[in-house]
Amino acid sequence: MLTPHQQAQYQAEGCLVLPGFKRAAEVAALRERALALIDAFDAGRHRAVFATDDQARKTSTATFLASAEGIECFFEEGAFDGDGRLVRDKAGAINKIGHALHDLDPVARAFSHGPALAAVAAGVGLVAPQVWQSMVICKPPAIGGEVHWHQDASFLHTAPESVVGFWFALEDATRDNGCLWVQPGGHRGPLRERFGRVPSPTTADGGVALTMQTLDATPWPTLDQAVPLEVPAGTLVVFDGLLPHCSAPNRSDRSRMAYTLHATDGRAAYSPLNWLQRPTLPLRGFD
Ligand code: FE2
Repeated sequence: MLTPHQQAQYQAEGCLVLPGFKRAAEVAALRERALALIDAFDAGRHRAVFATDDQARKTSTATFLASAEGIECFFEEGAFDGDGRLVRDKAGAINKIGHALHDLDPVARAFSHGPALAAVAAGVGLVAPQVWQSMVICKPPAIGGEVHWHQDASFLHTAPESVVGFWFALEDATRDNGCLWVQPGGHRGPLRERFGRVPSPTTADGGVALTMQTLDATPWPTLDQAVPLEVPAGTLVVFDGLLPHCSAPNRSDRSRMAYTLHATDGRAAYSPLNWLQRPTLPLRGFD
């Protein structure tokens, strides 16, 4: 249950930090599960994703779209050399795992549901939450790249905007290892970009291409307008889908693993042009 002060802070800043939201044992269980999923992942299956020919693009888009209703590992850029060989061990080369762990994986499912999370969702205004996606963000040492300024509403568009991000630190996040940076109050600005499906009958993508479209030229914040969220493992950061945020590269010698959930309000219209569609997997809330 959020206090009135916490709710007011979320409304004012577009962001709320809840340290100690998850117990150490829950965090350890999900972290170990993520490492096991990576261990079980056949790295050879994906090499094509990073080549540049048409067939590779088709494979890449198809793999991404299918992950809406599955569990898939995605590599960091720079994970392969020019000959398509991994430049480091597999566990140190994965960017993220997505996007339906919260429904399909028993450990992630347990982590992603329950009365505490349902109460937070209600406290930030989600009346009928629908959890569309889950991601383990690995941010491995050295290779874990920068994530540029963006708004999560660009990826999960509803009318009116309703997406909320739930970001859980599975390891301590610091400036050194690429913690989140947010622009407090920035959620009152416009949605700048929209990522989604466009018809593409002439491409190798099976009739669907994914593009990023500029909606508004408002500049992204500068770092002096932003604050770093250095948080210990177990912290939950809840943020408005319009809140600009980014993270720096991981320059440390340790990973910065996080888990995210994104939910929209079922009262808002979910766009059929969003990349993420779930034609067969039923949606549920946090209960
Ligand atoms: Fe994000």
